[in-house]
Amino acid sequence: MMTSIDRYAVFGFPIKHSKSPRIHQLFAEQTRQMLEYSAIEMPAEQFRAAVAMFFAHGGKGLNCTVPLKELAWSFAGHKTERAQLSKAVNTLALQADGSILGDNTDGIGLVTDLTGNHAVSLSAIRILILGAGGASRGIIAPILEQSPETLVIANRTYDKAVNLAAEFQAKARSKEAIVGCGFDDLKNRQFDLILNATSASLSGQLPPLPTGLLAAGGSCYDLAYGNEPTAFVRWGLENHAAKSLDGLGMLVEQAAEAFFIWRGIRPQTRPVIDLLNSERQS
Ligand code: ATR
Repeated sequence: MMTSIDRYAVFGFPIKHSKSPRIHQLFAEQTRQMLEYSAIEMPAEQFRAAVAMFFAHGGKGLNCTVPLKELAWSFAGHKTERAQLSKAVNTLALQADGSILGDNTDGIGLVTDLTGNHAVSLSAIRILILGAGGASRGIIAPILEQSPETLVIANRTYDKAVNLAAEFQAKARSKEAIVGCGFDDLKNRQFDLILNATSASLSGQLPPLPTGLLAAGGSCYDLAYGNEPTAFVRWGLENHAAKSLDGLGMLVEQAAEAFFIWRGIRPQTRPVIDLLNSERQS
C-alpha cells in the first residue's frame, strides 16, 4: 500500500535563498521523522488560493515569510495569543478537526537564541529595539515576558514607535517600562542590549546611532543575517559589544518551534546552528 509523505513548505517572495528546507530536513533526519519540506515562491495575490490548495491536497504545515506574514495572519482560522499580538503569522498548522492554526514563533526563536544559546539574560536589563515594523512587533511580547528593566523602541518614523509601545503597554510591568521614541531621543542614553529590527541592515545601511549608546559589557543582535557580518553586527563590534550576533540562531530556533508545533517533537538546534555557521565561514 502507498503511504503519502507529510508535506510542509515555506511560502515567500523571494524565497530562492531560504535556508528553511535545509533546516527542516536536518531536523527530520535527527528526529527520524518522514516528511518533505519545500520552498515555494508565492506572490501575495496568489497566497490565499495557494494556501487553501496546499492544505486541501495533503499539506500539514506551512511557514510564511516576507511579505506574507500579515496575509497568513488573516488566513488563519484561529491564532495563538502570541500570533494575535504580533499581527503576523509565520507558522500555519493543520489541526485534527481540519481547521488551520496560526502561530508566530519568531519572538520565542529570538529569546531562545539569546538566553539559551548565548547566555544573554533579558531580565532586569535595558533593551533597545531599532525599528517599529513587522519584525519588531513580532518580538515585543516574548521580550516583555522576560521582565527587562526597560524596553525602548526607536524608529525613523516617530509615531510608529510611540503607537507600537502604547499597544504593548498592558504587557509591561509599568507605563515607563516600554517607551517609543525617535533616533534623536537616544542621545545620552545607554542600553545593555540593542536589537536591530529595521530592514536597513540588509541593504548595508544603519540608523543613526550615537556613540556611547551601548553600555559597557552590553550586546548587539541583528534580526537579519547574511554570509558576511551585517552592518549592524559590525557596528556592535566597533562599539565593543561583548557579543555582536546576527539572526541565524533565531532562524533555526523559530524553525524548531514550528517543527514542534507540527510534529510534537523538539529537535536539537545546536548541531544545526553549528553546521550552518561552519558553512558560511568556509
Ligand atoms: P519588517 O516587517 O521587516 O519590519 P517593515 O514593516 O516594512 O518591515 O518595517 C521596516 C522597519 O525598518 C521600519 O521600522 C522602518 O522605519 P520606518 O517605520 O520609519 O519606515 C525601518 N527602516 C527601513 N529602512 C530604514 C533606514 N534606512 N533607516 C532607519 N530605519 C529604516
